[in-house]
Amino acid sequence: MAAIIPVDDFDCVVFGATGDLTLRKLLPALYHRFRDAQFSANCRIIAAARSDLTDDGYRERAERALRDHVAADDMHQETLHSFLALLRYARTDGAKADGFGPLAKLLSDDADRVRVFYLATSPDLYGTICRNLDKNKLITPQSRVVLEKPIGHDLESARQVNDEVGGVFDENQIFRIDHFLGKETVQNLLALRFANVIFERLWNADLIDHVQITVAETVGVEGRGEYYDHAGALRDMVQNHLLQLVCLLAMEPPLDLQADALRNEKLKVLRALRPMAAHDVGHLTVRGQYAAGAVHGKSVENYATDLGRPSNTETFVALKLEFRSWRWAGVPFYLRTGKRLAQKVSEIVIQYRDVPFSVFPREAGEMQPNRLVIRLQPEEGIQLHLMTKDPGPGGLRLRPANLDIHFEEAFSIRYPDAYERLLMDTVRGYATLFMRRDEVEAAWSWISPILQAWEEAGDKPRPYASGSWGPTAAIGLIERDGRTWYEAFEEN
Ligand code: BG6
Repeated sequence: MAAIIPVDDFDCVVFGATGDLTLRKLLPALYHRFRDAQFSANCRIIAAARSDLTDDGYRERAERALRDHVAADDMHQETLHSFLALLRYARTDGAKADGFGPLAKLLSDDADRVRVFYLATSPDLYGTICRNLDKNKLITPQSRVVLEKPIGHDLESARQVNDEVGGVFDENQIFRIDHFLGKETVQNLLALRFANVIFERLWNADLIDHVQITVAETVGVEGRGEYYDHAGALRDMVQNHLLQLVCLLAMEPPLDLQADALRNEKLKVLRALRPMAAHDVGHLTVRGQYAAGAVHGKSVENYATDLGRPSNTETFVALKLEFRSWRWAGVPFYLRTGKRLAQKVSEIVIQYRDVPFSVFPREAGEMQPNRLVIRLQPEEGIQLHLMTKDPGPGGLRLRPANLDIHFEEAFSIRYPDAYERLLMDTVRGYATLFMRRDEVEAAWSWISPILQAWEEAGDKPRPYASGSWGPTAAIGLIERDGRTWYEAFEEN
């Protein structure tokens, strides 16, 4: 049974309140937490944006968004009505120190309650909004600021954003969101590794041959072309989400789950990544860009058409990373992520080594090494691939079989969206699932030389048909090492 632990009353101020993230993710997440009575009707959600709207005008937009993004079964008229009553609108120009009047007025009545400033705006504004919050004396000891990724565009700009925000908020008031960490199945990696004795001793170079991480999407750039074209897949997905998965998979057991204990271990992983030298980038990474094709039988255009102009930005990246550490030396991690691929699936594959010696005759059949497959989405679950005896007469023949858990079937519970957990954690001041400044910068330190080498080489991304698994060079990347991408999900 899920346990709902109520949080203290709070004011949550959302900058960028008319934007896609707020309407598609933040409001539905808050609605669900309110519906489950995790916070009371005394809380306020203050929408801050530049548009000229009234409270009721904003509530109408919010209601439309909730109807679009919350399952009909979860929408209850009375709850919806009470939830909309928590919303206030404060016309705010975050870029201007004198653009905070209505917000300051709203906040003036209670300086003691928890105050969450959620910056769902363009990252260029993070520093300015924080400075202006300070100038308007809106930052109280009980305040926190939540920053969406991307924090910066490279190491230098990330440092600048961190300096600017850090100039007015203490590090323990800054919550840098990577929403992958809020996914139930990503947190389940901690349970799998540290609440079971059978994996941890086998979680190293002695028995693991390699690790694969696939985060595949079927969507294109949708309405986010301007942001995405400036970022590309390496910055948009690898610098944060995929490297966070690498951290949780590769880290040493933390002392406990306090924020710093966990983040110290993740930081060590990032620092143990072997830096990619410029002359290696060409063969250790593959960039791709989607061409026209069909996804789930529906024809789609190429990236340039979606964007409205030609571009050299990658919508797919595959890479091989290696570690400088005792636990992982010699165990490559192969990562790939892209848009307009054949399926939406996020999956981690831990590929174990071959048995050292086979006692079975050749006629027993091919022996496949063990594999642990962790499916993050959809159909969250874990499979352990084993060899078993093929039942019945005919000698001792081998046959692969799976131990299989499907979480939704096993626990019959709706999987909450990542933002639900993360928003409540910011109110509680619980920072374990957020990134610390040094982590973000360590991730950029590893990524920046790759970006630089790509830029210097001036290569164009390789085209791949929409609905495929990316450019063929991505297959070459792993097959060169005598390995293959695990693609069992294609069978589903
Ligand atoms: C976001 C990226 O952080 O994550 C998007 O900016 C991507 O480009 C999204 O589509 C994927 O998240 P999820 O939760 O749908 O796997």
